Amino acid sequence: MSTLITNIGELVTNAPVGDPAPGGPGKYPGEYPGEFTAITGAAVVIDGGRIAWTGAAGRAPAADDIVDARGRAVLPGYVDSHAHLVFAGERGAEFAARMAGQPYTAGGIVSTVAATRAASDVTLRAGLRRLADEMLRQGTTTLECKSGYGLTVRDEARSLMLAAEITPEVTFLGAHVVPPEYSRDPAGYLDLVCGKMLDACAPHARWIDVFCEEGAFGADEATAVLAAGRARGLLPRVHANQLGPGPGVRVAVQAGAASADHCTHLTSADVDLLASSGTVATLLPGVEFSCRQPYPDARRLLGAGVTVAIATDCNPGSCFTSSMALCVALAVREMGMTTQEAVWSATAGGAIALRRADVGHLGVGARADLVMLDAPSHTYLAYRPGVPLTAAVWREGRMVAARPEILAR
Ligand code: NIG
Ligand code: FE
Repeated sequence: MSTLITNIGELVTNAPVGDPAPGGPGKYPGEYPGEFTAITGAAVVIDGGRIAWTGAAGRAPAADDIVDARGRAVLPGYVDSHAHLVFAGERGAEFAARMAGQPYTAGGIVSTVAATRAASDVTLRAGLRRLADEMLRQGTTTLECKSGYGLTVRDEARSLMLAAEITPEVTFLGAHVVPPEYSRDPAGYLDLVCGKMLDACAPHARWIDVFCEEGAFGADEATAVLAAGRARGLLPRVHANQLGPGPGVRVAVQAGAASADHCTHLTSADVDLLASSGTVATLLPGVEFSCRQPYPDARRLLGAGVTVAIATDCNPGSCFTSSMALCVALAVREMGMTTQEAVWSATAGGAIALRRADVGHLGVGARADLVMLDAPSHTYLAYRPGVPLTAAVWREGRMVAARPEILAR
């Protein structure tokens, strides 16, 4: 069953129009995702959960079903490559205290750890699904999800098993912070993470992450965690340079990490390292917004040739937004990105940060993940910040959310 979406005001494809490039989706590095590319007056055909055709509306082939976009914009579904969704409890009071002048520290994480350990699987699953559904309704069709609020062998393994119910992009973050019961024996905790905890967790994850920061894990510890993960088949990514300058980016690049996330406090050497590596800089502007901290300078990274992704970092502490649209608006307004760069980073950039060639673009053969905006162009994501613009969402070719006026056709 094929569907033609036509009369699209602007179709953002991040891919060449027409036939797939030789090799096509599935290869990385390769042609996909490509640069920011948009077609006006466009149409797209989806078939069997994949993109079958894109081009000018006037030349569109016939299909079994037709959706009239009535001049709205259609984008690849957002790829949110950084989120912490398996947790219990909330930290609204900590946020309010921050807004009253308290700094953000890694210490708040332990209160979520206590609530998460005490929660049943049913409670954790319900919270996780609520957030994942909230994301999907807003147009996020691929998401990464970390553990990191369990910090025991049992609680980390169950966090990953729950995350794996909603996404294949599951990340083991046992090295989030040293839990209170190991405060006098951080080396013992590191042994646990790299030993028994990893044994229990590796089968349920694709990625391994470490919070490399003052108050969390230093360079040597982080390097050891990533090496242990690699030895168990996990691919590295790193929480780097969030709260201050430090070794995070260097550790990430040396480990061949797919992504160094946050990148708020970078030296010129960090920028050079990122530029000369395949490590994506994943910027999380919702964190700076929610912690009232200075934003990273995306222009500096882009100017140096670094691949930049944008993600939410949705978590109960440093940033509790699930909105990629808000992050795009912040990236444009606060980090110096153009609207095209920000949308590319929230789609194609996220896909590269997850080493995925099948999402983040609408090239022929890509997964048919689309978001239709109640707006004529992608620019409106930043031009109308805070306005719910998602009109409809397709995941693997299936319409999973839509406003009534889209359905009444
Ligand atoms: O990405 N930086 C470390 N971890 C999260 C925050 C977790 C929390 O505060 O609960 C982050 O910002
Ligand atoms: Fe994070």
